[in-house]
Amino acid sequence: MNSSFQAVQISEHVHWVGAIDWAIRNFHGYATSRGSTYNAYLITGEKTILVDTVKGPFREEMMARIGSLVDPGDIDVIVSNHAEMDHSGSLPQVIDTIKPEKIFASAMGAKALQDHFHLNGGITAVKDGQTIRLGDKNLTFLETRMLHWPDSMMTYLAEDRVLFSQDGFGMHLASGERFADQIEDWVLELEAAKYYTNILLPYSPLISKLIGRLPELDLDIAIIAPDHGPVWRTDLDRIIGFYAHWAEQKPTRKAVVVYDSMWGSTEKMARSIADGLRAGGAVARLLPLGSAHRSDVAAEVLEAGALLVGSPTINNQLFPTVADVLSYLKGLKPRNLIGAAFGSYGWSGESVRLIREVLDEMEVAAAGEDLKIKYVPDESALTRCFSMGSAVAEKLTQIGARSDA
Ligand code: FEO
Repeated sequence: MNSSFQAVQISEHVHWVGAIDWAIRNFHGYATSRGSTYNAYLITGEKTILVDTVKGPFREEMMARIGSLVDPGDIDVIVSNHAEMDHSGSLPQVIDTIKPEKIFASAMGAKALQDHFHLNGGITAVKDGQTIRLGDKNLTFLETRMLHWPDSMMTYLAEDRVLFSQDGFGMHLASGERFADQIEDWVLELEAAKYYTNILLPYSPLISKLIGRLPELDLDIAIIAPDHGPVWRTDLDRIIGFYAHWAEQKPTRKAVVVYDSMWGSTEKMARSIADGLRAGGAVARLLPLGSAHRSDVAAEVLEAGALLVGSPTINNQLFPTVADVLSYLKGLKPRNLIGAAFGSYGWSGESVRLIREVLDEMEVAAAGEDLKIKYVPDESALTRCFSMGSAVAEKLTQIGARSDA
């Protein structure tokens, strides 16, 4: 075992025994520019309990951290809060190694683990709100379906007041520090927001519901221990407040102008539209898809009021990068946006209509007329682009978009 992999104490009876993935830059299509962690936690006491495991290739790192504290064979119970492979990939081998007495998951989790790993049973399903006494510890399970998958649940350890929140309240951030209060605020806010948008945004109504349910659950939470990124042990209202705020998706005066360009014409349009937006008092964020990643576009769409999408027409279709980002954004289900389509074309010019069709499917309200310009925009065409930007800014004013973009 590599002795550099040590368990880190996070409360009296809980240690972090996860793994740090410094190298990952692509998490199922999400650009994780600061890497990530796969957090697992060990609860010690009369029973030794492992909460979640790690992505398959990181099993040895987790086992080494466990081994720095206890003999892995002493683990009595595994709790699997979430069946996605980044938390369960090592589970079959871990089960083979430690042979726990019990493995707990939600009912959907038991099925999902079975469908992933064909374990021949052996998972005990727990119910929402159920509390189980394991030796001198009490674990309460909270089903959080679709946060992030149908199987997801959170586990509360009453003795240490720790909520193991799996994907919830997490972020993709590799760090040597284990606690959020050891990391710069701006990094936390940026990465937590990016994670929220790229992983949880489609489930915002469920987030609002969960946060609304917290007082009624009457859990005395001192620590939130997610499955990615740092552990929250101070000012928990701050991260919970961020989630409540992001889930509302109230529009601001930020307009995201996302586009690609074949020979620079659609780019010229984007720049003039942005000038018009700014002249109208909106904040314009230009995201050229030659360099902007889809997940960075998504992060900008969080709290935006307007989404303007530009594409040239290529072989009667959208430019491939624009098709990609629209498909991605559509899946994330952003709400309360107004929007417009624009693009340069040569002869057939389908792109603007194709963008509009997707915007309609996304329930992005038309902010005015869409705009297509033949070949290279001249001064008159650029003036129309500027006017389009100003009109969108005016519309943001009309709908009462917040000014704290
Ligand atoms: Fe971190 Fe939904 O898995």
